[in-house]
Amino acid sequence: MKVEKRSNCGRLSLSDKGKEVYLKGWVDALRDHGEVLFIHLRDRSGIVQVIFNPEDTPAKTYKYARSLRSEFCISVRGFVKKRNRGTENPNIKTGTIEVVASDLEILSSSKPLPFPISEKAMVAGATVGGIFSVAEDTRLQYRYLDLRRPTMQNNLVMRHRIIKCVRDYLDEHDFVEVETPMLTKSTPEGARDYLVPSRVHPRRFYALPQSPQLFKQLLMVSGIERYFQIARCFRDEDLRPNRQPEFTQLDLEASFIAEEDIYDLMEELVVRMFAVGGITVTRPFPRMTWNEAMDSTGTDRPDTRFGLHFIDATDIFKDTTYGIFSRIVEKGGFIKGINVKGQSDRLSKNVLQNEYAGKIVPSFGAKGMTWMRATGGTLESNIVQFFSEEEKMNIRKRFDADEGDIIIMIADRSYRVVSSVLAQLRGHLAQRLDLIPKNGVCPLWITEFPLFTMTGRRITSNHHPFTAPERPDFDPSDREELLALKSRAYDLVVNGEELGGGSIRIHDRALQEKIFQALGLRDSEVKKKFGFFLKALEYGAPPHGGIALGMDRVISMILGTESIREVMAFPKNRKAGCPLSEAPSSVARRQLSDLGLLDLDSGKWVDGKKIITG
Ligand code: AMO
Repeated sequence: MKVEKRSNCGRLSLSDKGKEVYLKGWVDALRDHGEVLFIHLRDRSGIVQVIFNPEDTPAKTYKYARSLRSEFCISVRGFVKKRNRGTENPNIKTGTIEVVASDLEILSSSKPLPFPISEKAMVAGATVGGIFSVAEDTRLQYRYLDLRRPTMQNNLVMRHRIIKCVRDYLDEHDFVEVETPMLTKSTPEGARDYLVPSRVHPRRFYALPQSPQLFKQLLMVSGIERYFQIARCFRDEDLRPNRQPEFTQLDLEASFIAEEDIYDLMEELVVRMFAVGGITVTRPFPRMTWNEAMDSTGTDRPDTRFGLHFIDATDIFKDTTYGIFSRIVEKGGFIKGINVKGQSDRLSKNVLQNEYAGKIVPSFGAKGMTWMRATGGTLESNIVQFFSEEEKMNIRKRFDADEGDIIIMIADRSYRVVSSVLAQLRGHLAQRLDLIPKNGVCPLWITEFPLFTMTGRRITSNHHPFTAPERPDFDPSDREELLALKSRAYDLVVNGEELGGGSIRIHDRALQEKIFQALGLRDSEVKKKFGFFLKALEYGAPPHGGIALGMDRVISMILGTESIREVMAFPKNRKAGCPLSEAPSSVARRQLSDLGLLDLDSGKWVDGKKIITG
């Protein structure tokens, strides 16, 4: 009997008992039992055990099977059999059956592997070694093998499903997917551009898009009304754990909408995306203004899975005799703290005084830390004797202190120091005391951002210069007024991570020019960089707004992976390189010369950068 139709390893079950099947896949693992050879055969659907034994397998096939090694690519024909009682394998879905091989073809052999790929033990109770001891660069160098691992396959399949859910949802809501150019002009998103030279335009450069921001706004001028794109973005910026030089955004924009429309649209979308991963997220998402976030957590992306919010206590100590506090209050400084609720038993005097006050908090940048324990209806610590009864009572009241609470305070002349130290302390304590629920998903909208911020001595946009200000009637030369201006921007933060950001945009040319002026851009510079965009605003631009979600971050969070690299097929490593293809690499002088990037007369390298070898 000739069976041509291929079956999927992972989909076989007891209902296939007695059937002849034809399988193709890779040898995941082998176990040689003297007479009988067992293999785990793996394809994308899963694993099934195949056995070669001298009784049922033709002698030639049996002999051939003895040459099999891990990751040989093979095709097998055989019969599905129920496993004998006691030999079932709960590690795989098909663990109650096996396939007795009658024919084997080796489609392709494999060299010994640089690291193990198999993730499923062949017998009940056994374990297999993980991938975690393997250097990430080795995994990336052999990414095609790393991606054979069922965990990585699942990550890519889930990524596909989540992105499909996004496309289906936005299609239902009348959004149209439009592709915008990759070879374009620089869009300011705060990072450096990757530049692309061209033979046709010697010494001129395209920029790879940091985001499709300007093009999506132009699509609104075009009357597309509702646009989205699963867009690749490129940013030559300092790498951090959840950043990649090349990443994917769900980018969207709509006309005739306001903030509430975006919140509504995105909340339902986020709920659906997480549901693909079996996670329930509840609506509506809470909102917090930027000021509230900074005051209560010291960051614009607060993790709201746990409390430990900051409480201002400066006014309690305005007449204090405690020297450290009184000097700070006199000089206009700040005293803020947190109540570590009910954790008295887990924070001994030694931990508070020697570890936190002595080492940890100074390493965060503070000069010192004050702590108090609420016990026996009063406060206890190494310094409470310096506080009056009234001060102690006020502290208890302000911090809502109950028996078993620990109050920690940081005092400094600088608000920034107090905030940043408390923010780090908040995170440290939450980790140490295990206060972060493992499976909690806590989304949060941050609103009312300042429109501008100071970068060094320059005024810069907090998001990007196309964000609408809360009001148009500001003086672009008044620094103080500019820094107090709020914007119509919003960020989506989940579990302390920024997953997305967007805003209502400026659709009026004069206002857009005023923003460029406030940013200190000269007219000539504006014309050169944004002239095409400003011109478009003169032809009936509709009011519009939008948002972009970092898809790699969202998917990584849904799947609970260690880093975004685990949900990207071919990510760059921590040095923005690709260990597989060895990009970036040097290029031939000839290529540079074609691009007009070699000064052939003097033989000097252009711009003095050592990116070039012959
Ligand atoms: P923004 O710069 O905030 O906004 O980017 C949106 C989201 O993209 C993700 N993200 C990244 N993910 C991985 N690696 C990176 N290097 C990286 N940089 C950003 C984040 C972020 O929240 N044009 C605006 C959007 C708009 O205004 O509509 C923009 O790009 O999750």
